[in-house]
Amino acid sequence: MHSASAKIILLGEHAVVYGQPAIAVPFPALTATAHTTDAPPGDGLTILARDVGRVLRVHLDDETPDNALTYAAQLALHALNARPPDLSIEIRSTIPIGSGFGSGAAVTTALIRSLSAALGHLLEGEALNTLVYEVEKMHHGTPSGIDNTVIVFGRPVYFVRGQTPEPFPVGRALHFLVSDSGVSASTRETVGDVRRLVESEPERYGGHIEAIGQIVREARACLEAGDATALGALMIQDHDLLRSLTVSSDLLDRLVDAALGAGALGAKLSGGGRGGNVIALVPPEHAGRVAAALRGAGARQLWPMTLEAR
Ligand code: PMV
Repeated sequence: MHSASAKIILLGEHAVVYGQPAIAVPFPALTATAHTTDAPPGDGLTILARDVGRVLRVHLDDETPDNALTYAAQLALHALNARPPDLSIEIRSTIPIGSGFGSGAAVTTALIRSLSAALGHLLEGEALNTLVYEVEKMHHGTPSGIDNTVIVFGRPVYFVRGQTPEPFPVGRALHFLVSDSGVSASTRETVGDVRRLVESEPERYGGHIEAIGQIVREARACLEAGDATALGALMIQDHDLLRSLTVSSDLLDRLVDAALGAGALGAKLSGGGRGGNVIALVPPEHAGRVAAALRGAGARQLWPMTLEAR
């Protein structure tokens, strides 16, 4: 069996599409897995995606795949110069779809890992990252590449589009609560809407994008110094800018306010927005109170997440 974990964007979503930095970390509480079983000779390659009720046959000569799983398998076969093996690959995922957790990239990563391993050439690192990015384009249109990068490499990254991702030190362990709003939203749509805003009023909204980039640069210094108070303040500023870019929602704002009111040092939406998840930076002594406040404000699911000092 092969797997890939979800991801959380700590700061910098949306602005990262425009070349600003963003910081993302793996989120191992949620995972996608792919399990291969040999099929009878001549049966070919089948993908079973039971969570979404799909059974997909993979053919190499299907030039215009309309399904991301089929496309991912084809890309892996082309990369390895292989014919479809007689194999069944079962995909399972606990990652909510359209919720800012990188579900698409995680499922693709697990699938390509298992298929390439079954062919005897496990694809990893940059070779895998390039393929997952290709599939991300099908999901998102113009992805920055942050989701596939953090998920494939499986470690916290300071990411700038088109550059080699940088690992960064963390001065002190930081504790977060991750809450799913239960609302799924299309990242393709939110990214498109932000683009229209930036193009319509470049001074104003382009300024927001640059301000987010500056927040991320400062946040990196806070992470390195282990300064949770200053990091929390930057998360609040980032959320306010994302709200001005129209990618928050009443529910996400309520979750952020509830967390802050109960003692979180910072809180913001994470990922594409308008739904999906909210992250809160929480001193461990307030975790119970903040969790209760988030539940009261409508959080459907909650997970603790610790970013360890390294
Ligand atoms: O896939 P999501 O919803 O976590 O969003 C990815 C982050 C964005 O910055 C909104 C888009 C991108 O391609 O970076």
